[in-house]
Amino acid sequence: MSDFTTIETNLINEINAAADEPALEAVRVAALGKKGSISELLKTLGKMTPGERKEKGPQINGLRDRVTAAVAARRDVLEQAALATRLAAETVDVSLPVQEAPENRGRIHPISQVIDEISTVFGDMGFHIAEGPDIETDFYNFTALNFAVGHPAREMHDTFFMHPDANGERKLLRTHTSPVQIRTMLAQKPPIRIVVPGRTYRHDSDQTHTPMFHQVEGLVVDRTSHLGHMKWILEEFCKSFFEIDQIKMRFRPSFFPFTEPSAEVDIQCSRKGGEIRFGEGEDWLEILGCGMVHPNVLRNCGLDPDEFQGFAWGMGIDRIAMLKYGMSDLRPFFEADTRWLDHYGFRPLDLPTLIGGLSLT
Ligand code: DAH
Repeated sequence: MSDFTTIETNLINEINAAADEPALEAVRVAALGKKGSISELLKTLGKMTPGERKEKGPQINGLRDRVTAAVAARRDVLEQAALATRLAAETVDVSLPVQEAPENRGRIHPISQVIDEISTVFGDMGFHIAEGPDIETDFYNFTALNFAVGHPAREMHDTFFMHPDANGERKLLRTHTSPVQIRTMLAQKPPIRIVVPGRTYRHDSDQTHTPMFHQVEGLVVDRTSHLGHMKWILEEFCKSFFEIDQIKMRFRPSFFPFTEPSAEVDIQCSRKGGEIRFGEGEDWLEILGCGMVHPNVLRNCGLDPDEFQGFAWGMGIDRIAMLKYGMSDLRPFFEADTRWLDHYGFRPLDLPTLIGGLSLT
C-alpha cells in the first residue's frame, strides 16, 4: 500500500511540475505508456492469486485512474496557459481594411485607358498605330510640315529647344504628333492609314495646359480619300468614343501650314448644371484640327500630289479624356496622387472593347 502511495505522490509531483505539453507527455508515457510503470504493475495482476488480486486490483486500477485524471487536468492548465501567452503576444487589428490582391488594387491611368480606347476604335476601322520619338529635329517637327523658316506659326508652338549639338543643330521636344506623318510617309508607300498617340511638349502651364500633354494624330493617304471620308471617320470616332448614338459636329475654316484646306472641329454639347452632355445643347466645344494634306508636305515626302492625296487630323487626348470622364483640371493627370488614381483610374483587367463597352468600369 505504502509503495503505491509513494509511486502516486512522485507521479503527481512530476505531472504538476511538467512545464509544457511535451514534458507532460513524457511523464504520461513513462507511467501509462505500453511499458510505463503503472502498465507494468497492471500486468502483475494476472500472476496473482485470487485473494491478492482482490486486494491489489482496486489499488492499482485506482492509481491508474487518478494519474490519468491528473495528466488530463495538467494538460488543461498548460493549454490554457499557452493560449493566454499567444493571445497576449499576437495583436490582430480587426479594424484594418482587407488587403486587395495586386491585380485588383492597381489602377490604369485615365490617359493610358483613353489611348487604349482610341486605339480600339480606330483599330476597328482598319488603322495601324504608329509612333515616333519625343525628341525631334526641326525638319520633322516644322520644315517638312511646310512651316516656312521665320513663319509665325513656329512661334505659336512655344517650343522647348535642346542645346545645340556638335554640328550646331538644335533638337527639340516635339510640339505635336504631326512629325510622325512625315516619318511614316518617308518610310512606307500609300495606302497609309495610321493613328499616332503620343506625348507632346509646349512651354505652357495653367488649369488647361501642361508642359507635357498628349495628342493623337490621324493620317490617311491614298489616291482617292477626301474630306467626306474624314468627316465620316471623325463622326464615327466621336460616337464610339463618347458612347453616344448621335453627335453634332461643326467644321470651321482654319489654318495649319501642313493642310489645305484646314478646319477646326467643334462638337455640340450642353453644360447645364455643371455637367457636360454631348449630342444636345447650345454650346460648341473645340476638339481637333484637321484638313487635306498640303501638296508641299506630300512633295517633301517624295509623293506626287497629282497622284496621291489624303487627310490628317490632330486631337488633344487629355482634353477628350477630361470631357469623357468629367474632370475639370488637367494638372492632376501628372501629379501621381494615388488617391486621385484610385478614384479616376481603371481596373487593369477591364480592357476596352467595342463589344463589351469601352469604359465599363
Ligand atoms: N498639329 C496640330 C496642333 O498641334 C493639330 C493638327 C491640325 C494636326 C491639323 C493635323 C491637322 O494633322 O491636319 O495644333
